[in-house]
Amino acid sequence: MCGIVGYTGNEQAAPVLLDGLDKLEYRGYDSAGIAVCDGEKIRITKARGRLKILRELTHDGRMLSGTCGIGHTRWATHGVPSNENAHPHFNEAGTIAVVHNGIIENYQKLRNMLTERGYAFASETDTEVVAHLLDYYYKGDPLQAVLKMMNRVEGSYALGIIFQDQPGKIYAVRKDSPLIAGTSRDGNLIASDVPAILKYTRDVYFIQNEEIVCMDAEGLEFFNIDGEPIWKEAVTIQWDVTAAEKAGYEHFMLKEIYEQPKAVLDTLNPRIRDGRVEIEELGMTEEEIRAVRKIFIVACGSAYHTGVVAKYVFEGLARIPTEVDLASEFRYRNPILDSETLVIVVSQSGETADTLAALREAKRRGVRVLGIVNVVGSSIAREADNVMYTWAGPEIAVATTKAYSTQLIAEYLLAIRFAQARGVVSQEETDEMLAELRRLPEHIEMLLGHKEKLQRFANRYIAARDVFFIGRGIDYAISLEGSLKLKEVSYIHSEAYAAGELKHGTISLIEEGTLVAAVLTQEDLYKKAVSNIVEVKTRGAFVLAVTNVGNTEVEKAADYVIYIPETYKYFTTSLAVIPLQLFAYYVAIGKGCDVDKPRNLAKSVTVE
Ligand code: AGP
Repeated sequence: MCGIVGYTGNEQAAPVLLDGLDKLEYRGYDSAGIAVCDGEKIRITKARGRLKILRELTHDGRMLSGTCGIGHTRWATHGVPSNENAHPHFNEAGTIAVVHNGIIENYQKLRNMLTERGYAFASETDTEVVAHLLDYYYKGDPLQAVLKMMNRVEGSYALGIIFQDQPGKIYAVRKDSPLIAGTSRDGNLIASDVPAILKYTRDVYFIQNEEIVCMDAEGLEFFNIDGEPIWKEAVTIQWDVTAAEKAGYEHFMLKEIYEQPKAVLDTLNPRIRDGRVEIEELGMTEEEIRAVRKIFIVACGSAYHTGVVAKYVFEGLARIPTEVDLASEFRYRNPILDSETLVIVVSQSGETADTLAALREAKRRGVRVLGIVNVVGSSIAREADNVMYTWAGPEIAVATTKAYSTQLIAEYLLAIRFAQARGVVSQEETDEMLAELRRLPEHIEMLLGHKEKLQRFANRYIAARDVFFIGRGIDYAISLEGSLKLKEVSYIHSEAYAAGELKHGTISLIEEGTLVAAVLTQEDLYKKAVSNIVEVKTRGAFVLAVTNVGNTEVEKAADYVIYIPETYKYFTTSLAVIPLQLFAYYVAIGKGCDVDKPRNLAKSVTVE
């Protein structure tokens, strides 16, 4: 996700801003920029690429004089990485500059409104509408302009704002994206995250939703959404810089597991409107959607596992025959593709060589390719005919968690969208599904509360030699992901098996005390799944069951049961995977493994 910093005080602002942006690099970014006001004029320098380029362009900040400024590292969501799309964005007169972290969900509507009023846009970003909106409302009172802007903007934002005719002042406001303020001997600061300002101060104010902070060299003031002054207490940060980059979590993997509720919300929200799923970026008309006779979902690793789930959802909801292929196999098996086929490639990094090669093969054969990608402007995003972005933000840990969860959301939304266009789902069922989708973030949040319980259970298995994950239907797909998570971070051998298949050979590996994780979230398959639990129990297995709340029957067969909240039958993966992620994480750290960078693995496998 993007990073913002701001400084106003007795020192030159640019070096402080660049230093703060350095400390936010870990968040991942593709461009950066700073805006500094010298008391008369705002000067902006911004560029695609690493901070090193910005330092070179500004001679380490010396080219931009002034003691008040804002800075930004951009993780692209709307608009590819480019100089024009880099922040800060500004109004046409260059008298207002803005940096933003978050997603302005109604930016298109605001862009149209402002264009009708004669505003011209220089970028493809959602953020630029904020700069012009502030220009539209600014009549000399910056706080009033900020409040009016807040009333029009929908979505998530942490904003840093400077007005040329308000020298030395910075305004900052947040809704759903993190924002802090800090006071130091030499001035006052804002930032997205603690690491950016720890060098200058440990006294930090955590800005809450719809609070505004106004600061200058002398001090800072806080206001609520009604423009009334409010009082806030500073918190003294105890973390060191390394811990702060992980927001206090011990590892990026755990931090990203805990970011899943927000990542799911960010990927969902902009695509559900007026009781329907709307996916503008799909680039397909109702007729074109109806003309699709076959879908191939092609991916690798965890992304492939989401495809195995999506097969059930597309065929169950949209009644479209759907095949799922490992990207490394797809192009060598001479798949049967034609003009009525849609190929969906799924990739967090957008750079996985096998998946990119599969995309190119499909395009060579004249087939429409849709990408579900997390990294904006990546190779797969650029080469797909259309791309539906997941908005998980940058994922640092090699083992994917939040990106996996947002890929599932994208696939659920696509399946509902296709079902809508093909008229095979009622509005009543659509309403139920959308309501359940909106509840997923809170359900995930609740499951994250089981952290200690999972840690205790995981500690019993750090010496395990073999672990098996079993399930039927969608539960088999969940088992695939649970198994991969465990083996890739803990190096314990693990296999996922279709529960009904175990007895055809692999059950010979079950010994006294072998851990078998059974996933039972599909009510129509409970009884069969329980009989598979009994099968392995009689051979000595210890069974961990993950099942829906209320399915207490399982307690008669399994040794240890984790319940997930009720949800729509096709969405259970998003919940059942949470305890399995936590289990894998705690087994790995119990073994002292490098959980963020497991041996032999890369975050993006750019070789075939
Ligand atoms: C999952 O935890 C692994 N990191 C790996 O299986 C990954 O999902 C796979 O390499 C695909 O990566 P992509 O989503 O970036 O294409």
